[in-house]
Amino acid sequence: MCGIFGYVGTRINAGQLVVDGLKNLEYRGYDSWGVACKNEQGDIIVEKDIGKISTVDSRQFSQRCTQALAHTRWATHGGVTKKNAHPHLSTDRTIAVVHNGIIENYQELRDELKNKGHSFLSETDTEIIPHLIEEEMKSTEDFASAVRRACKKFKGRYALLAMHTTSQTLVAARTGSPLIVGVGYEDGPRPERGAERRVEGYFIASDIPAFMAYTRTVQYLDDGEMVVTDGKNVIFTDIENGKERPKREIEITWTVEQAQKGDFEHFMLKEIMEQKESIARAVNQDEEQILTLAEAIRNAKGTFLVACGTAGKACMASEYFFSVIAGHHVNFAPASEFKLYHHFLQPESLLIVVSQSGETADSLEAMKVAKSKGAKVLAIVNVKGSTIDREADYSLRINAGPERAVASTKALTGQLAVLMLIAYAMAGKLKNGKTLLLETSSMINDMLNPRYIERIENLAERIKTKEDLYIIGKSWNFPMALESAIKIQEVSYIHAEGFAGGELKHGPIALIEEGTPCIALMGNDEVTTDILSNTIELKARGAFTIGVAPQRNEAFDEWLKVPDAGHAQALVNIIPIQILSYFLAVKRGKDPDMPRNLAKSVTVK
Ligand code: M6R
Repeated sequence: MCGIFGYVGTRINAGQLVVDGLKNLEYRGYDSWGVACKNEQGDIIVEKDIGKISTVDSRQFSQRCTQALAHTRWATHGGVTKKNAHPHLSTDRTIAVVHNGIIENYQELRDELKNKGHSFLSETDTEIIPHLIEEEMKSTEDFASAVRRACKKFKGRYALLAMHTTSQTLVAARTGSPLIVGVGYEDGPRPERGAERRVEGYFIASDIPAFMAYTRTVQYLDDGEMVVTDGKNVIFTDIENGKERPKREIEITWTVEQAQKGDFEHFMLKEIMEQKESIARAVNQDEEQILTLAEAIRNAKGTFLVACGTAGKACMASEYFFSVIAGHHVNFAPASEFKLYHHFLQPESLLIVVSQSGETADSLEAMKVAKSKGAKVLAIVNVKGSTIDREADYSLRINAGPERAVASTKALTGQLAVLMLIAYAMAGKLKNGKTLLLETSSMINDMLNPRYIERIENLAERIKTKEDLYIIGKSWNFPMALESAIKIQEVSYIHAEGFAGGELKHGPIALIEEGTPCIALMGNDEVTTDILSNTIELKARGAFTIGVAPQRNEAFDEWLKVPDAGHAQALVNIIPIQILSYFLAVKRGKDPDMPRNLAKSVTVK
């Protein structure tokens, strides 16, 4: 979940460069930050502090330096303190390391190192890394070999980046957490066609936005691999046996503008608004491929969907899509719960993994479980080249463009659209599905107008001081009620819970007091009468009822009109809730882009 960024090359402002680039990775963690620069005397100078990197003036790192690494932290081991912030150093201060993930056997390794005379300044697992490399350097002159030997002793999932006072190289390694190399060409990110290109330096980061201003040519590090670069050359090798691993250069298509806030105050609002176009991009899939996948689901002996958080709610909604649209049964499980389902897996089973980032540790774990049983894996991801994208047997991309706010919005509607498209393809009605989804996308375009947004902002003003909020839905609106709760919780910190409308009378209705805000999500279909009855039950107990529905009803104290989108109702109903969550956060003085305790990409189990 932490952000890593390093540079080595001919640029002389490496310190400033890594701090500026790291600001684009702040979504990965924002407890504390740190930077290590090698100065002209060859010493490693470290600066670190608690707080957000976005508040740091990078000009303070403008001293001449061609090799630097930096880190933004999401604390796992040890509290949020300056001492625990990365980079961490070896005893002799010759080695600096930044790290993402968890070294599971760090206590054992720390005890061994203590017995050899090492002392530690922090409570982190990370600090053992530079100390272990230092220890390994006693028996090898070569920095990269020492890093390799240290890595072989680690258990767990990690990505690390290291530098040494006497080595011109940056050395990075990954097992489970992402790392990407950016190839810095002298002619910048947009080369002349056919021009011969010369490398000016290499970037190593947890995610592409860190270096997107300099290059869009990338090379992906796979699990169990190391990379060593001196800024002129780069070598990828296997951690275990040191054998060279050839790598392709891949051009990424995302633009710098897509990854920036533009005129919006927050990424969350920008990304909500982008749903005007992103759903249409998700629907624009290769039809042959969708038909092949639909066939694979039909022929599979059991299709399982796994994902986490919001992506999981898209999968849950798709259980209804496959049932109602295609008459086919699929099973959803939260990725973190999937392990015990392995009893049902066979080589003919299919696992569908849905993930915005393509790096979520629990989802990757579920993939491993399925693969160990010989089952095939279909990925539905947003980030091209992410681990899930590369490791799946087939991969579909939702093409939402970079999603930077921690709260997932446009990725959700893209995931819902792709899953619904496959359900329509299974029903032999791919064209109908495509038409419906494109119509839905244009309805969303109409919805996202200033008057509609202002109406929701006013509602947020009215309920912003409430302590509890409940959301109900039925059919695909039930997972959307759960998703609504996640959105409200994570950005506004209001206690919010989603329920299946029919479950209210089996317990949760006891929570309702005079004025408790309750949102009912509904469409215009065979379950509307039921969910309206549930809303009336809530109103009768004093709830302040908010109907998200195509038609007004006297059961609603407040009505948020949504278009009638038929089978695609889930996609339109979630939009006003995303906007409401955003305004609840802002009006309660919270930063919706960086909610407390969370990070965008959850690469730890
Ligand atoms: O990158 P992923 O889609 O795999 O991430 C899954 C969840 O961590 C993510 O959806 C999370 O729940 C969001 N913060 C919700 O807005």
